Amino acid sequence: MTKILMLIVMLGALLSLGMAPADREVQQSAGMTAAETSATADPRDRKWQLNLDPHKVLGSESCAKCHAAETQVWKSTPHHRTFLLLHRNAEAQAIADRLGVAAFKQDSACTQCHYTMQSTDNGLEAVAGISCESCHGAARDWIDKHHDYGGLGVTRSQETTQHRFKRLSESINHGMRNPINVYLLAQSCYRCHTVPDERLVNVGGHKAGSLDFEIVSWSQGSLRHNFVRSHGEANDVSSRERLRQMFVAGMIADLEFSLRATAAATSKAEFGLTAAKRADRAAKRLAAAQKLVQQPLLEEILAVYGDVTLKLNNHQQLTQAADQVNQLGIRFAATVSGRDLSSIEGYIPASERWK
Ligand code: HEC
Ligand code: HEC
Ligand code: HEC
Ligand code: HEC
Repeated sequence: MTKILMLIVMLGALLSLGMAPADREVQQSAGMTAAETSATADPRDRKWQLNLDPHKVLGSESCAKCHAAETQVWKSTPHHRTFLLLHRNAEAQAIADRLGVAAFKQDSACTQCHYTMQSTDNGLEAVAGISCESCHGAARDWIDKHHDYGGLGVTRSQETTQHRFKRLSESINHGMRNPINVYLLAQSCYRCHTVPDERLVNVGGHKAGSLDFEIVSWSQGSLRHNFVRSHGEANDVSSRERLRQMFVAGMIADLEFSLRATAAATSKAEFGLTAAKRADRAAKRLAAAQKLVQQPLLEEILAVYGDVTLKLNNHQQLTQAADQVNQLGIRFAATVSGRDLSSIEGYIPASERWK
């Protein structure tokens, strides 16, 4: 099972590296039928919220020595600033008062989205706002693997294609939300930006999610830190192909996490209503995209959605559907290249709208 998945991830890596045709054949010759791949359990399935284990968080300083430029960009974003500003914010204080939260940096009511929690000698500590590992996954188990090109002295340009596959898929299997599979990153964004916490919204009065969140416009503006692909020379906007893939992956993740939020709804109030509306909207957007791109995996996702009822206290059904969308989304990003999505080009937000 796991082997098949690794292969899919590796092939996905290949496709996004621009080696498509030959490797499609590899995929076919690997004998993966649609039925087999949809039966493939994904090792990360239930881990989407678990790879933030504070015991495995290393902190952004451990990235900075090799990723100085990325770190500098990050320091200018609201994700970084929330660490310094949230506790001084009157609205935040009002939310906390309504919830009986005494310390923002200690109460999971806030820490799960506004802070990076690390296990230190002083116990569990908020060490930053939303940092590298909040999006890329707690790094202890993958940090050494992700930059090892195949042993001491082997440089990037000497790395074999085969080793690159191994490196990327190993990093993912050890909990890295590696950008090679853009769905893994889209999940990070939506985990927080759908604000899937009923009490926080209904009792605390917190905003019920970033309703205008869209992954291309929210990731390619001031947050962008794409230095690796140009060997540190520039902060490149992603290619049109990648933006298309990201755009559709974002819609899928919106559906997945809106379903998760709806699954958590137990009372007829702002939280549940917003979540259900959001799920419905995400599905409609996906259906409209599917009219253009005609992808079998999107058809499967829409079928999953077609089988659920968006109602209160329907936790099991909606969570199961979200888990299925999770698998399909990962597979979408691994196997559908941006070249197959050219018909969506005109819908991708233009750069004037990037945050
Ligand atoms: C010892 C140096 C080093 C450290 C420390 C390091 N990285 Fe990297 N990282 C690299 C190199 C080199 C690459 C480029 C790999 C390649 O060519 O694909 C990279 C690539 C990446 C990528 C792009 C995906 C990939 O696998 O190519 C991400 C994301 C990333 N690093 C995140 C992090 C985070 C987050 C941390 C801290 C927890 C971190 N890195 C720490 C050297 C490092
Ligand atoms: C489930 C995730 C989640 C949790 C938990 C959470 N927030 Fe937020 N919060 C967000 C997101 C996402 C935004 C950004 C919304 C936007 O701008 O679209 C946000 C924005 C805010 C803002 C407005 C932004 C600002 O800095 O002016 C305040 C205030 C705030 N949160 C306070 C809190 C407090 C206090 C807690 C704990 C009681 C908390 N949040 C818990 C996700 C969360
Ligand atoms: C761990 C939770 C978390 C994750 C993961 C996360 N965000 Fe955020 N994001 C927030 C919170 C909280 C804020 C508001 C911070 C504040 O203003 O205090 C925010 C703010 C933002 C803003 C600024 C919004 C504005 O109106 O200026 C952008 C843009 C953004 N996020 C994009 C993204 C993207 C893109 C991703 C995924 C690649 C992502 N975020 C992942 C929690 C998160
Ligand atoms: C809000 C979520 C978020 C945070 C925080 C974040 N990243 Fe990323 N990172 C992303 C996304 C999304 C991409 C892919 C962007 C794209 O392809 O256009 C990415 C891509 C990367 C890449 C690959 C860039 C390339 O050229 O291909 C590296 C390296 C990286 N991140 C390192 C880091 C480091 C180091 C930190 C902390 C200083 C960090 N990231 C913080 C979301 C995040």
